[in-house]
Amino acid sequence: MKITIPENFIIGAASSAWQTEGWVGKKENQDSYLDRWYKNEKFVWHNGYGPAVATNFMEKYQDDVDLMKEIKLTHYRTSINWARFFTDHEQLIVDEDYAQHISDVIDALLAAGVEPMLCLEHYEVPAVLSDKYDGWSSRKVVDLYAGYAKIAFERFGDRVKQWFTFNEPIVPQTRIYLDAMRWPHEQNTQKWLLWNYHKVLASAKAVEIYHELNQGGRIGCVLNPEMVYARSSSEADQKAAAMYDLFFNQIFFTPMIKGIYPQELIDICQAHGVWIETAAEDLATIKENTLDFLGVNQYYPKRVRSPKYAPNAETPFHPEIFYDTFDLPGKQMNNSRGWEIYPQVMYDMALYLKNNYGNIPWLITENGMGRENEEQYQDETGMVQDSYRIDFIRQHLRYLIKAVEEGANCEGYMLWAFTDCVSPMNAFKNRYGLVRIELNEERTRSMKKSGLWYKSIIETRQFEVADEQEYK
Ligand code: BG6
Repeated sequence: MKITIPENFIIGAASSAWQTEGWVGKKENQDSYLDRWYKNEKFVWHNGYGPAVATNFMEKYQDDVDLMKEIKLTHYRTSINWARFFTDHEQLIVDEDYAQHISDVIDALLAAGVEPMLCLEHYEVPAVLSDKYDGWSSRKVVDLYAGYAKIAFERFGDRVKQWFTFNEPIVPQTRIYLDAMRWPHEQNTQKWLLWNYHKVLASAKAVEIYHELNQGGRIGCVLNPEMVYARSSSEADQKAAAMYDLFFNQIFFTPMIKGIYPQELIDICQAHGVWIETAAEDLATIKENTLDFLGVNQYYPKRVRSPKYAPNAETPFHPEIFYDTFDLPGKQMNNSRGWEIYPQVMYDMALYLKNNYGNIPWLITENGMGRENEEQYQDETGMVQDSYRIDFIRQHLRYLIKAVEEGANCEGYMLWAFTDCVSPMNAFKNRYGLVRIELNEERTRSMKKSGLWYKSIIETRQFEVADEQEYK
């Protein structure tokens, strides 16, 4: 079947600062939370690789931009590394070397015909603010972030017209404080809520500042909602799915798009003694400064069922008292990453946004397939023959375009990632790129088969897709 890509529908790619840059030129006090975690728990990072060298984008960005030009990519998202943007994170003294790097990258992209989209925080919260203020636990960090946002808009807003306040703001505190699986291993559900709330507030402040500056662009946030599927139509399973949606999706969607917190969320958290104090003035900021558009990172479905067992009264409150994860027999898997492959999530998420959030403009800011041991697919010229990635993209795009044809307000698809890059903990284990990165000193780049295929769909605005797909 032939699929036509709608006019003006963006076909882009993404990455982030910390996952590509490397530490060349980084100063003593410029560790981000991620850098600190890498230094403290290097053993959890696959084969010891991490942000230290990453893809050495600091020195090699022009090579990547040239490859973007080669495949005629039109949009690229990355982030500014907040931790590296200042030499003094409280006095907001800009690191002019780093700011120049960002400026150079923007210019290089524009010269290659690629529109830069910038995110203010892709987990790069400065470690000095984690030390002094316990990171997003503090209202002070919200104000420091707002100061940072203003300077970033003033410096780059003439050339960057699409901004994101955060990437997946729910993720770090979920891993750190809700699930306590990351350093510093503290389980604290109330702190999880506080970090969520402070990020919603910080995002609203950035939106407010951006609109005041009147730079003729727009500002959104990249969220990672999970499309939730109940095991069955039973009331209990349906409730489990609704609770998961409330605690992990609506918790950001509703305040950021509608300007308010879901009352049900507040009631449940209050009943369990974990709700947080909120100031009327801050709630007004959230109410008045909703997003212009949304970025959605979408990789896999979430399947739940009603819990098998009653909660243990001694375990601190965690939303998982409302659901168990359900393992669907026969599901297709990306075994390298351990994620289910279910391309229909694209369609279902599009309709979810259309039906529940006023059809806000949005785009897929991440989707992609991380695969292990890609060297086994290199041909005699060294090109990775990643047909599985092409099949994965085709199927996801096809479902997304179907939703657009039915009135979903989705403006594009940005693949994660343009080049292979460093993942939290998995480092270079799973490769995501259209471009391969060798782990040699030069971090040599080479186009994969998927890069050339991406070029062909950008040029022809069409692609073929099979009705059924098995992912080998
Ligand atoms: C997204 C993040 O959740 O998924 C990226 O925004 C991340 O930073 C990507 O790299 C893929 O996940 P992972 O864990 O395989 O790198």
